[in-house]
Amino acid sequence: MTLPQTVLIREIRSETRAIRTFVLDAEAPEAAPGQFVMLWLPGVDEKPMSIASPVPLTVTVARVGPFSTELHQRQVGDRVGWRGPYGRGFSLDESRPALLVSGGAGVGPIYFLATRAVERGVQTTVALGARTANALPYAEQFRALGVELVIATDDGTLGHHGYVTELANQLTNRPNIYACGPEPMLVALHRLCRGRDIPAQLSLERYMKCGFGICGQCALNGFLVCQDGPVFDVDQLDGLRDFGRARRSATGRRLPPSLR
Ligand SMILES: Cc1cc2nc3c(=O)[nH]c(=O)nc-3n(C[C@H](O)[C@H](O)[C@H](O)COP(=O)(O)OP(=O)(O)OC[C@H]3O[C@@H](n4cnc5c(N)ncnc54)[C@H](O)[C@@H]3O)c2cc1C
Ligand code: FES
Repeated sequence: MTLPQTVLIREIRSETRAIRTFVLDAEAPEAAPGQFVMLWLPGVDEKPMSIASPVPLTVTVARVGPFSTELHQRQVGDRVGWRGPYGRGFSLDESRPALLVSGGAGVGPIYFLATRAVERGVQTTVALGARTANALPYAEQFRALGVELVIATDDGTLGHHGYVTELANQLTNRPNIYACGPEPMLVALHRLCRGRDIPAQLSLERYMKCGFGICGQCALNGFLVCQDGPVFDVDQLDGLRDFGRARRSATGRRLPPSLR
């Protein structure tokens, strides 16, 4: 196990009212898109965060509860701890067009994957979804990368009026799909991809403690999400009892799925 290193926050960017990007004075050059780090606020908690960029190490975090609220109160020059990278990331198929689907705060790893796909010359479309136009992160960053960008908002304030998964359903060029976002979105993509035999990789979240396969906290019907995932091939999720139905709390209690 790597021990956490404490480093300075070098830059903070406000993406939306509730989403901020933290650029750390650290590097993880070996990291793959879809991998995560354990981010530590001494005296508060330690939580998994997907890597949005490896050099300098960057994470994009939605303010939703105690940990993320504390992090959002940190300033440039404050210190945070990190260890990793951990987990199985996305494996980019360079021979086929790619559709990258992001919902809400799932945007960090999708941005990292988009940068790799552009570097490798893969024809890339990003489908970006949010509740409303003001809650849409990273649209400018994706445009600057030069990928095709399609947008969906639940309330119709920008782009397609509806879910981002409906955009995926309309595509006719049968790209490989790579996705990160709320579990209901992943369930819809799983159904679509299995029904139309489209290759896909989906990034899941479960409550984590160790982050590297020791504690068993992130168990999902025989998988450890921190080690076997967080990115799963779509067929690995076939018939998983808890996928889209249940998650576990810090104490291991079964809870209904998070709607995020
Ligand atoms: C592998 C992995 C990678 C992750 N990467 C990221 C990331 O890149 N960015 C990020 O913001 N979070 C990410 N998370 C989630 C993160 O680890 C925390 O769970 C999250 O920050 C909430 O912690 P909290 O203590 O602030 O709130 P909690 O007390 O854990 O949650 C408060 C409430 O908000 C809901 N919730 C939890 N997370 C979110 C969210 N992100 N958006 C909306 N509602 C939520 C919970 O279901 C709960 O009802 C990742 C999780 C995993 C397992
Ligand atoms: S978080 Fe400990 S085994 Fe996955």
